[in-house]
Amino acid sequence: MTRAEDMSHHAPALEPDATLRAAFFEHVCQTSREPLALVVSRARGTTIWDDTGRAYLDLLAGMGVANIGHAHPAVLEAIRAQCQDYLHVSVYGEMIQRPQVHLAARLARSAPGDLDVVYFTNSGAEAVEGALKAARKFTGRSQLVAFDGAFHGDTFGALSVGGNPLYRAPFEPLLPGVSRLPFNDGAALAAIDRDVAAVIVEPVQGEGGVRIPDDEFLPALRRRCSAVGALLIADEVITGFGRTGRLFACEHWGVVPDIMVVAKAVGGGLPLGAFLGRRDVMGTLSHTPPLAHVTTFGGHPLSCAAGVAALDVLLRDRLPERAAEVGARWLEHLSTLVGQGGLRAVRGLGLLLGLEFESPVCTRRFATRCFAGGLVLNWTLHRDTVVRLAPPLTIGADEIAHANAVITRALRAGGATGEERP
Ligand SMILES: Cc1ncc(COP(=O)(O)O)c(C=O)c1O
Repeated sequence: MTRAEDMSHHAPALEPDATLRAAFFEHVCQTSREPLALVVSRARGTTIWDDTGRAYLDLLAGMGVANIGHAHPAVLEAIRAQCQDYLHVSVYGEMIQRPQVHLAARLARSAPGDLDVVYFTNSGAEAVEGALKAARKFTGRSQLVAFDGAFHGDTFGALSVGGNPLYRAPFEPLLPGVSRLPFNDGAALAAIDRDVAAVIVEPVQGEGGVRIPDDEFLPALRRRCSAVGALLIADEVITGFGRTGRLFACEHWGVVPDIMVVAKAVGGGLPLGAFLGRRDVMGTLSHTPPLAHVTTFGGHPLSCAAGVAALDVLLRDRLPERAAEVGARWLEHLSTLVGQGGLRAVRGLGLLLGLEFESPVCTRRFATRCFAGGLVLNWTLHRDTVVRLAPPLTIGADEIAHANAVITRALRAGGATGEERP
């Protein structure tokens, strides 16, 4: 039996849980008017099963988290083992916790250049906050530069460097001293001057619609930052851990940032984020005053133990290389579908693929049909004409064939808009 067939025969059909569904809408704060509302009963590898036993192929990898697949056995075993020893014991940085130290050392070894010192957080946005604070304190400068179309998270600081005015407006005033430049525009980089503490950039913009810069852009940005003494912060929250076909996306362009932000896949499915930097930059957090940037749960031992196991699997199974090969082949196939169902263009790097539609109506129709066909996917947060595919890097050839069949049907079926989700 292929993995694709196995997915649809995992569990006997059950009654959908109407009470749970109703309570979800009543008590769990809704972040949109149209959540997927899939009732999750189990997730393993590339597959999520709902409460009726129906299998869905997860083409979002839990939104960029499950790079090695959901609930990998090595991660589960690491969590189990760590539970036997201790859970939370103390605030960040006070005690020597083996999983934290092990993961920090592995990250330092795996990261490009001399990003040797790691600060663990609970999430991506929190890591962005820490990176921005460290940059301001280290440089003694206040200005921050970000890019149009960027997404760095939804806390106040992270939102302040976000690149979509629609999402900033309801929460203003935000951080002062932030300016924004067009993404992928080398000429605009001249605006980065000696007042700038840091420039924050996603090597490939994810939520902004899977935007891949030209080859010159990031190296030029690196040069400009070095020339004016501004720190370069690379946000690898989505692009990290093999997603784009290299362990970190900066490596495609040989760029070493001063600080790198990671989250999502770093915890192997448990909540974890981190910012890594050069020793001199990160050293600024230890003094004047000490304890000025602390966290209770950042670098939780369970999350770090899971992270060590996940990174070991990722490297052992050469999943970044796999993502590069599989992604390139998939992109080639998807490009043959351009022109159908409003699909205007496809692009991607590794297993971060973007399908650009000619209108939000076409995007929505396509996503709805795919979901009805058993694929978990969605349009990107800040670009409602782009559907992103970012499956676990372990996705099998038969699963991609299955996804392609559903995608082709969704593009070819004309007529009704199919607005409602099943
Ligand atoms: C590039 C990028 N940075 C930061 C974040 C924020 O991470 P978190 O949701 O863990 O706060 C995200 C979340 O999607 C992201 O895509």
